[in-house]
Amino acid sequence: MSKKVKGFSKMTKEAKIEWLTNNYFNNPDEARETLQKYWHKDPKTQQLHDEFIENTLTNYFLPFGVAPNFKINDKVYAMPMAIEESSVVAAAAKAASFWYDRGGFKSEVISTKKVGHVHFAYYGDYNKLWEFFNSVKDRFYADTAEITKNMRKRGGGIEDLMLINKTFEEPNYYQIKATFETVDSMGANFINTCLEQFANTLQEAVKESDIFTEKEKDIQIIMCILSNYTPECLVRSEVSCPVEFLETDGVSAEEFVEKFERAVHVARIEPYRATTHNKGIMNGIDAVVIATGNDFRAIEAACHTYAARSGQYRSLTDCAVEDGIFKFWIEVPMALGTVGGLTNLHPVVKLAHELLDNPSAKELMGIVAASGLAQNFGALRALVTTGIQQGHMKMHLLNILNKLEATNEEKEEMKKFFKDKVPHYNMIVNKFCEMRGVSSVEELKK
Ligand code: MEV
Repeated sequence: MSKKVKGFSKMTKEAKIEWLTNNYFNNPDEARETLQKYWHKDPKTQQLHDEFIENTLTNYFLPFGVAPNFKINDKVYAMPMAIEESSVVAAAAKAASFWYDRGGFKSEVISTKKVGHVHFAYYGDYNKLWEFFNSVKDRFYADTAEITKNMRKRGGGIEDLMLINKTFEEPNYYQIKATFETVDSMGANFINTCLEQFANTLQEAVKESDIFTEKEKDIQIIMCILSNYTPECLVRSEVSCPVEFLETDGVSAEEFVEKFERAVHVARIEPYRATTHNKGIMNGIDAVVIATGNDFRAIEAACHTYAARSGQYRSLTDCAVEDGIFKFWIEVPMALGTVGGLTNLHPVVKLAHELLDNPSAKELMGIVAASGLAQNFGALRALVTTGIQQGHMKMHLLNILNKLEATNEEKEEMKKFFKDKVPHYNMIVNKFCEMRGVSSVEELKK
């Protein structure tokens, strides 16, 4: 049967499932049942989810957990985290509790500007265009006044407009670089709408002017789009305490700090390690970004570009010891919204915001940065002391036992057995088979 389908998006959800299960699955009934099992029992809630995207078939559940005891700027939060990786929430909670007793996290927003560009081609004299652009700048503000009205009322709007000459990299390529303040909204739609208007204004103003030749008047708009790189929407979070407060997991404070500093340094100079180091940071960041209904792909993209801003990909965190005080900090771009998008639409996202005391976008930036820093601290602490597998496998144990279809009693017994061990996959399977009195996984299935 041909798998090319016409008008799929216009079919009902049921018809889509019917077509898909018949075309792609050996057991269509079982596939349909799995999809339907994850529908929400309340039709209105399900419809809400159906309408988030096109061609929704069902829902994809992620665990939504909390890491309590996050003291950030002297306020205590239970951090909402949506993530599938077993050990992330446990590690965050452990790090939060550790720093709770040592002053907590201090987060500070450095700046909140976002940028977008009208990318265009102009076949003429740059100086002429530059002078003209500056002479008609007010028109760009006036033509977008209606779009920016509400944003201006909230304290935001267009902050700056610049003409950028990029012809040294690409012939005839120019940009209008626009800087925005979007207050509590992420602002993507607002920015893109303004940019598209700037493009119209540019083309119209140039056409109406009599200083340009016909060739020069033929400005070609390449595209209008915000940039997800937001180095001017930046937040810093820091923890600090006297070195002697850092004795941990049987390792002396001095030895721990020396190893920790070295681990951070390795991630600053070695991109292979920096990638894993930053991946661990993103475990903490993404989980909160997803729980609060923000765009984690945008945050990921910005953080990784920022990590490479020196020309080499490096760690997003850094540490230092000064006068016996250990300091560990993160500095990351963080374009978040607390209004608009999913934030007041998705019931669980709304709950996450309430759990965080309905933060402003600036407060949320500080909260998310602290989560990334905590996650990195937890990972590095484990890596330079006990090794990562102890904590990781403790949490992963349940996933393996669920795969083996262990009962709750069996899970408890296995957890007890592995309490003070670092189990690997085969150890867990062998112990489980032994408990069941069988000699192999194949026998378990009989
Ligand atoms: C695993 O998801 C994250 C870590 O690999 C991070 C790190 O190595 O720093 C543990």
